[in-house]
Amino acid sequence: MNTRAGFTTRWGFYLAAVGSALGLGNLWRFPYVVGENGGGAFLLMYVVATVLIGLPLLCAELILGKTTRQSAVGALEVLTAQGRSKSSLVWFGKFSIVASVLLLSYYTVVCGWVLHFCMQYFVGVFIDGPVQGADIYLNLMTSGWLQLGLTSVHLILCAAVVAKGVERGLERWVGIIMPIFVIFLLYLIFESTQLSGTTEAIRFLFYPDFSKIDFGSAIKAIGHVLFTLSLGFGAMIVFGSYMKSTMNVPEAAIRVVALDTVISLCVGMLIFPIVFSGGIRPDTGPTILFETIPMLLSKVGLNDLFGLVFFLCAYLAGLGASIGLMEASVSVLVDRKKVARSKSGIIIGLIAFSLCVVPAFSSNLLRSVQFSGMNLLHTFDNVLINWILPVIAIGISLAVGYRVKLKNLRSDFIWDERQTTMRLFGNWVFALRWIVPTLITIALSIEMFGILSRLL
Ligand code: TRP
Repeated sequence: MNTRAGFTTRWGFYLAAVGSALGLGNLWRFPYVVGENGGGAFLLMYVVATVLIGLPLLCAELILGKTTRQSAVGALEVLTAQGRSKSSLVWFGKFSIVASVLLLSYYTVVCGWVLHFCMQYFVGVFIDGPVQGADIYLNLMTSGWLQLGLTSVHLILCAAVVAKGVERGLERWVGIIMPIFVIFLLYLIFESTQLSGTTEAIRFLFYPDFSKIDFGSAIKAIGHVLFTLSLGFGAMIVFGSYMKSTMNVPEAAIRVVALDTVISLCVGMLIFPIVFSGGIRPDTGPTILFETIPMLLSKVGLNDLFGLVFFLCAYLAGLGASIGLMEASVSVLVDRKKVARSKSGIIIGLIAFSLCVVPAFSSNLLRSVQFSGMNLLHTFDNVLINWILPVIAIGISLAVGYRVKLKNLRSDFIWDERQTTMRLFGNWVFALRWIVPTLITIALSIEMFGILSRLL
């Protein structure tokens, strides 16, 4: 079982795990959900959910992969049934594969938008002269075919990288763009915080005004934590399965979570000063990133080259995440069904392509199809992240918390004899058995209560 191709270095693991965690979740989704849910109070719930739910679950997924050396379905099978009858919890493994294909279907559409901004800024900088950000955005939203075309280009790129294999595909370039992007982001934050909306933005983000949240906010905070840490998709199980056996799981998990959270907060500090100084509504929804960045560039008089670099880095981050997402389902086909890697890449790519037609046309041809004010892309996002993912997360935490022979996992948690380290393991098990399922169940019930009370 241990013949599986592993990451050759610790770096390899970090690059892949961080590469999958950082993505449009931080750049595109974080500002949009924080904006929609009223800012500070939501952010507080998000941070609490990160520590109480995200961290224990990330450890659980990594450990599942690391000890079984299998991808999602196999890992749950090995650890839960321990060779005996199949556990129904294995279904959660299968569910997570469905989730990753579903996510791929609209995540790639958003990657297509980013790609379009990249190309427009490229043309602006090198050929055509100054870019009108608002026009790019409007043209894009009104043309479904353009979105479909961009999405196809993106999917083909992903499938090509995944078909080549994880080590060659992932390790190389994440490490190169990440530091560049972080420095660039810090510079843009510096520019953005010179705008007049900064004080209001800080108040919006960091003052927890609980009157602004509603029945759905708690589950949205939890859903976003799962999404941004790539939990519930089987992806982290796969990355865990490539981890070197000498690596310590909680330490790795804490680093990934900390980096992801800090980057999201930075993006918040970039976007919201622009929102408040430009008269954009904070609850604009999934397009907020695409409206604010061009506005920042034109307001502070930055060269379009900055737009090009920003969207290029964003695109690469989205590409890294899409590749990780595809990898999650491809590795199941490879491990379980013995389908060749290249063929699996093509199969998953085609399924995602057939599904992406719906979100690609959601802002134009299918614009009139709305569910409680959300178009189809928004609805896909809402259903997957605020309903399906939390249920998968409960399944995984119960599977690991109750069905796994935990003795075998202790050594992954205890790397020295200090009291805190020894206690960590017990706390983790408690979190998986009680905290994670209870909090998610409460949040789901509150949301359901909210929906019922609206209907009645
Ligand atoms: N976490 C990614 C982001 O923030 C998105 C994502 C969710 C993902 N699940 C994944 C990426 C699985 C790779 C694999 O954008």
